[in-house]
Amino acid sequence: MDVLVVPTAADVGTCAADLVAARIAEEPRTVLGVATGSSPVGIYRELARRRAGGSLELGHLTCFALDEYVGLAPGHPRSYAAYLEREIARSWGLPSSQVRVPEAFRPDLDAAAEEYEQAIAAAGGIDLQILGIGTNGHIGFNEPISSLSSRTRVAALSAQTRADNARFFDRPDAVPTHCLTQGLGTILEARQVLLVAQGRRKAAAVAAAVEGPVAARCPASVLQFHPRATFVLDEAAAGELTPGTCRRTVPDRGDGLPPGSPSPAS
Ligand code: F6R
Repeated sequence: MDVLVVPTAADVGTCAADLVAARIAEEPRTVLGVATGSSPVGIYRELARRRAGGSLELGHLTCFALDEYVGLAPGHPRSYAAYLEREIARSWGLPSSQVRVPEAFRPDLDAAAEEYEQAIAAAGGIDLQILGIGTNGHIGFNEPISSLSSRTRVAALSAQTRADNARFFDRPDAVPTHCLTQGLGTILEARQVLLVAQGRRKAAAVAAAVEGPVAARCPASVLQFHPRATFVLDEAAAGELTPGTCRRTVPDRGDGLPPGSPSPAS
């Protein structure tokens, strides 16, 4: 695992965008897994800015959302499909058909989950999965005590997650109770994983994920098994890591290597 600590929340977006852009420069047809929520917005907007400036082509990507709420009508402004239409499809110049989202509005959710797994496999698997982390250590909506080998499925949102996400809805009780989420086993199959976290509220979950133990209590800790996982954190989100477990990389981590280069500990 590589842990990069940058000074501010804004730096998380730019540093992570550098890593994503480097992958896309190598392979314009990259299959990207995309989280929603507030954590990755800086990455998405920075990539959109580079595209607008002509330095980055994003039109050949295929994107797969991590999850979607169950119970919201298609096109609901708080759905993750609507979020990705705004933040990715329109601003990256991608046809909506290249941004896939679990079809959580369908009556047969088990079939929708199975077909989502098949669609990911048919695209050749996810090359780079972008993740946020919940205050309870979830990734995707794999809440504590999710199976560490779970696949895409219907899952219940914890009370903590519903409270955390109430800020996106008019009323706390409008937050859906269930979702369709990629499983932890699905996420682990991505060839590369990039988790971003900002702010003190994420610090305990980040420390549990990075320093372990690997446990269903902190689903993100399963990323310790991933051979190519990078965490990009601001100082506040890194605040509960044991000093010395991570390397400061911005403005200069002092070893002459660019951000994203593997550290000896990875
Ligand atoms: C979103 C997702 C969640 C979020 C997490 C953090 O697609 O799967 O795991 O990444 O809840 O949310 P924010 O970034 O809003 O703090």
